[in-house]
Amino acid sequence: TVGLSKAMRQRGRSFIGTALTLRGDAQELAIVENKADFNSITPENAQKWDATEPQRGVFTFDDSDRYVDFATEHGIQIHCHNLVWHSQLPNWVTAGNFDNETLIEIMHDHIKALAGRYKGRCTRWDVVNEALEEDGSYRKSVWYNTIGEAFLPLAFKFASQVDPKAQLYYNDYNLEYNGAKTDAAQRIVKLIQSQGVKINGVGFQAHLTSEPTTSSGGGVTPSQNTLATALRKMTSQDVDVVYTEIDVRMNTPATRKKLNMQSKAYQRIAASCLAVERCVGMTIWGISDKYSWIPGVFPGEGAANLWDEDFKKKPAYYGFLRGILRG
Ligand code: G3I
Repeated sequence: TVGLSKAMRQRGRSFIGTALTLRGDAQELAIVENKADFNSITPENAQKWDATEPQRGVFTFDDSDRYVDFATEHGIQIHCHNLVWHSQLPNWVTAGNFDNETLIEIMHDHIKALAGRYKGRCTRWDVVNEALEEDGSYRKSVWYNTIGEAFLPLAFKFASQVDPKAQLYYNDYNLEYNGAKTDAAQRIVKLIQSQGVKINGVGFQAHLTSEPTTSSGGGVTPSQNTLATALRKMTSQDVDVVYTEIDVRMNTPATRKKLNMQSKAYQRIAASCLAVERCVGMTIWGISDKYSWIPGVFPGEGAANLWDEDFKKKPAYYGFLRGILRG
């Protein structure tokens, strides 16, 4: 069969990606290096603030470099992740009690150093990650609390000055079905554009479920139409959209029936992207169920990826592929 990324390219779209942690697992690497399924990677943790600037002005790029070099060596895209986020942010930033001016300078220095190091090599950058609460208000992060909403256009302005060729994204979760949050993300796009600052796209993370779970509050992956409508809310603002972190979890253990439901959910997601012209690509958050972040954060849930713990393709792999080919 044709691989995922080959199918996506045949449909005239740009990429299928995976989150990647270079952990020396030969089976996992073989899937990425084969390139039939993935022509983009997103470093899962290596570029986050705690990994790249653990102390003010002290930059540690060794781990991050491995991913950018990996993408270059294999001739694939890299979705760089991320520049400004409230999480995995070291204490020296969150508890530093910096004033407005100093925190802007800290943000600017970080963007100059990190995005500057990879200038011309990152296909896309998640410039700001997860700035919104579920009710559509701004998350009360150190960024918002100190700088106000101006931190968003400022971050995009700095990133576009440092790496003019990278595609610049705002990235968040639950935009797929939470209308209040989707509307708020649309307002962020307008805010940035209204200041004449470049924003190329919005990342829909798509951490979803195939059945009601405790963490999903009873929700499941919406219909293809609902998903496509949410994507179009962004593309109507003249930006691209990408599914940036797809996984579809369930209550574990998996059964045949649950795996088939999951496969249909993956198919709906892929088909919704194909239904929207400016949905340029999709990234799955990891390869095998063996390494997913989910069981550690949502106990009793998981089995969310396309390969099982033994690196066998699950029904979800074929559902996702069907969604790409037919959607
Ligand atoms: O590297 C340390 C290691 O030194 C330490 O011994 C170990 C003990 O806990 O922790 C290791 O760090 C962990 C890191 O992953 C690397 O494995 C952190 O505890 C753990 O919290 C971290 O989890 C990551 C999570 O982001 C943190 O927020 C997940 O791998 C990663 O998949 C997840 O990805 C996020 C996206 O960046 C943004 N959107 C949501 C998505 C899922 O939460």
